[in-house]
Amino acid sequence: MNHPKRYTITAALPYTNGPIHIGHLAGVYVPADIYVRYLRLTGNDVAFICGSDEHGVPITIKAKKEGVSPQDIVDKYHAIIKKSFEDFGITFDNYSRTSAKIHHDTAQEFFKTLYDKGEFIEEVTEQLYDEEANQFLADRFVTGTCPKCGNEEAYGDQCERCGSSLNATDLINPKSAITGNVPTLKQTKHWFLPLDKHEAFLNEWILKGHKKDWKPNVYGQVKSWIDDGLRPRAVTRDLDWGIPVPIEGAEGKVLYVWFDAPIGYISSTKEWAERVGKDWEPYWKDKDTKLVHFIGKDNIVFHCIIFPSMLKAEGSFILPDNVPANEFLNLEGNKLSTSKNWAVWLPDYLEDFPNQQDVLRYALTANAPETKDNDFTWADFQARNNNELVAIFGNFINRVVVLTDKYYNGIVPAPSEFSQVDEETLASIKAYPEVIASSIERYRFREAGQELMNLARLGNKYLADEEPWKVIKQDEERTKTIMFVALQIAAALATLSEPFLPFTSDKLKAILSVNSNGVENDWKDITSNKTLLPAGHNIGKAELLFSKIEDDTIQKQLEKLEASKKANEAANKKVEPQKDTITYDDFSKLDLRVGTILEAEKMPKANKLLVLKVDTGIDVRTIVSGIAESFTPEEVVGKKVTVLVNLAPRVLRGVESQGMILMTETADGKLVFVNPEDENVSNGLHIS
Ligand code: 2FM
Ligand code: ZN
Repeated sequence: MNHPKRYTITAALPYTNGPIHIGHLAGVYVPADIYVRYLRLTGNDVAFICGSDEHGVPITIKAKKEGVSPQDIVDKYHAIIKKSFEDFGITFDNYSRTSAKIHHDTAQEFFKTLYDKGEFIEEVTEQLYDEEANQFLADRFVTGTCPKCGNEEAYGDQCERCGSSLNATDLINPKSAITGNVPTLKQTKHWFLPLDKHEAFLNEWILKGHKKDWKPNVYGQVKSWIDDGLRPRAVTRDLDWGIPVPIEGAEGKVLYVWFDAPIGYISSTKEWAERVGKDWEPYWKDKDTKLVHFIGKDNIVFHCIIFPSMLKAEGSFILPDNVPANEFLNLEGNKLSTSKNWAVWLPDYLEDFPNQQDVLRYALTANAPETKDNDFTWADFQARNNNELVAIFGNFINRVVVLTDKYYNGIVPAPSEFSQVDEETLASIKAYPEVIASSIERYRFREAGQELMNLARLGNKYLADEEPWKVIKQDEERTKTIMFVALQIAAALATLSEPFLPFTSDKLKAILSVNSNGVENDWKDITSNKTLLPAGHNIGKAELLFSKIEDDTIQKQLEKLEASKKANEAANKKVEPQKDTITYDDFSKLDLRVGTILEAEKMPKANKLLVLKVDTGIDVRTIVSGIAESFTPEEVVGKKVTVLVNLAPRVLRGVESQGMILMTETADGKLVFVNPEDENVSNGLHIS
């Protein structure tokens, strides 16, 4: 494509069953926002489109779990997610939701068009059914073993381990996610998109076409799916939450969430166009429009195979120019997980780090999972802030602004003759927009962010080498020239940082009185011969752009994560089912006494056993107890315990044990004394 006339940039519509976490931000929304801000700064016509994905099984499951309606769930999280995007400076032109009327109408019309064109196969097939829940089991309502990779926790529509897109009936040993029952098969009618029919087109378009410039991870996945052979895929479901299938004979059925969600990009564009008085169609139908989908890797098949097949079948739409999917971000070595609460949620982050959105944007970009899964660690976050944002970027700006204020009362001095280093430095500044742009246009945002930091490094080095604070003592004219050059670097940083650090860029522009006071700089001005901060321009006072993050702040975050992991394990710990009923007579046979542990020693050559001397009130006796992995002998001496005194004696490693002391096993497998007040002791734990 020559230079596109306009851009339609979409970011994956997030499921509205929870808030947004750092993985979402790193994988999709920050890169998309950097790209869009850059496009806008360079004078392009852009529609940046997103919205909430409000259908699908995860939302129904969450609603059931919380005892509320799916609408309640999506209303709650739509508001939270929308606010997070605003808070983090993600500048969508429109953020819609798939429960909006305009979306229902658009999705139904799209379905109807394909139906009328004969693009679907209508077929009665046997689908998985939960007799107890009275419900067909599609998508996330069913789990089982992935036929491709053996993952035992694959879902009915997709295996998250190998990324395969599945039909529920493909699963080995399927199990209902509602009741845990083994499903039966029941006949039902559905409409299928015959992906096999589109194989030739996909082959031509992606494999033989120009898509070799797609990221290798995306191209590779798509190629392997196509090489495996495509099969028809049902685009309707027997569910009561979703968009009704708009044809006769489909009562009680809804559109498959992955059929309606990508159409959400179109309906959100329509909503935007209506609001701002534009025509939406060129953004989706003019071949001079560049369409780019920002997504995570689990969405590749839907954006590179299914949605393009839908668009092609409809006939009047353009296809994506690129789908720069990212890999996954892990957190402190473990997979980010909403259900396991192993995440840093954006609302929580902002509470703990108010006004520090750019630090997270920067750390996530510097460590973005562009070519492989990457790990977010709090230590790296701290280092990115302290060693780069504070020590390089912030330090440079602070020195320039403070010295300009001190020497010239905040007025940009007039330079005299430039030295060779000055000339080279001014020439380097001019090269940065292109260097950064080239990385951004190739979707290499990590590289782009590092180039930005290199410009700040250049500024720091220039000041350190030229030492205006020393030169001022001998040569005032030379000092003016040095400060003039340094101020040009600061001005370039103010503009070039906008896509990456939008809040900082605004602050810096205010400090330098740029884009006010008659000085306006855009991306292209930096490359041109224009002086970014002319002599005589009055800048403002220094203000701290970033501040150091201390170790104890990071420690608190690590503790918070650990606590949430523990709480989650406890909540998810399977409570053992109740044993068979016993009579009172059975119970009364147990002789339980309070005792005190008088002595304890490790049983030689046995890791688990302690040999105890226990005062039972009746006598002092020996009890061999399997508690050595939870307690040292010193920890138990003097403790009061419940003792089962009439248990038949047993010889363990040659020592006769004359009873049993009772303990509780906590969620993480540790034994504790029976004490319901203990914070590790939760309902349902066994006493043994
Ligand atoms: O994976 C997800 O979170 C999906 N809700 C993404 C949908 S993208 C688009 F097609 F709407
Ligand atoms: Zn798999």
